[in-house]
Amino acid sequence: MFNLTAKALACALSLAIAGMAQAAEPIVIKFSHVVAENTPKGQGALLFKKLAEERLPGQVKVEVYANSSLFGDGKEMEALLLGDVQLIAPSLAKFEQYTKQLQVFDLPFLFDDIAAVDRFQQSAAGQGLLKSMESKNITGLAYWHNGMKQLSANKALYEPKDARGLKFRVQASAVLEEQFKAVRANPRKMSFAEVYQGLQTGVVNGAENPWSNIYSQKMHEVQKFITESDHGVLDYMLITNTSFWNGLPAEVRSELEKINVEVAAEVNKQADALNQEAKQSIVDAKSSEIIQLTPEQRGKWRDAMKPVWKKFEGDIGADLIKAAEAANQQ
Ligand code: LMR
Repeated sequence: MFNLTAKALACALSLAIAGMAQAAEPIVIKFSHVVAENTPKGQGALLFKKLAEERLPGQVKVEVYANSSLFGDGKEMEALLLGDVQLIAPSLAKFEQYTKQLQVFDLPFLFDDIAAVDRFQQSAAGQGLLKSMESKNITGLAYWHNGMKQLSANKALYEPKDARGLKFRVQASAVLEEQFKAVRANPRKMSFAEVYQGLQTGVVNGAENPWSNIYSQKMHEVQKFITESDHGVLDYMLITNTSFWNGLPAEVRSELEKINVEVAAEVNKQADALNQEAKQSIVDAKSSEIIQLTPEQRGKWRDAMKPVWKKFEGDIGADLIKAAEAANQQ
């Protein structure tokens, strides 16, 4: 009897302590990213924080670090694997060390528009890619849109020959390097935080980014021309450390999963509007000229860059490229 009571007491005590510990110490989720807050990813991170803290009060605390303030894009993946951050949303161009399949998103002129990108991401093939890095302890939670990329430079770019010899900043992606080599330009890998200065000092002459990134980093102030090329996509995968995620209390994880569905839907609904607003602000700033391509000029860029697909078909998989292409026709 005594034993039983003592055991019951000890058990109740340890539950109470665990409860107190839980109440006293929320799970801290650090979310680090490299862009400004007034961008699709910046807004998505803040919305995730708001919903998580509202719906899991005292249980979860989300710290958002924008603008490479905690980790730049050379380091954020490593930090996630080491457990120094719990959520990041790198651009799909930045995963090649972990899976070659995501390179599909960088292939130039593969997707007609962001709606096609969305259909592919939501397809069985696209959803499968979220799980493609679990053996590396990385779990994909959602896709977030930014938008289609535009070419910027200090020279007017109407046709591929105009880019010849220019130095273009690229994300850490072999596909994007080949894309610029295909027009006989010189690609240079550079982390996002360094792009503005790189353009300003002439280390590079041009870059490619969606409007929201161009505007929020003030790249339009140091680029005389922006060609509305829509030649590729810059989207994100929201990822977490698999062990961290699987180790969360089940009810916390399932609430966060619901929140992730909502946040992704909201980011993806707002992304285009944010890019259009950013484009308008660039037009209003009058610091750079926006070049519209004729269908014929755009066709020339497409013809020059499309051979890149073949070079990566072996790594990406021909079936995956076909599945992505098929999303254009739906
Ligand atoms: C870039 O490096 O240009 C982008 O990936 C930055 C971002 O996260 O949008």
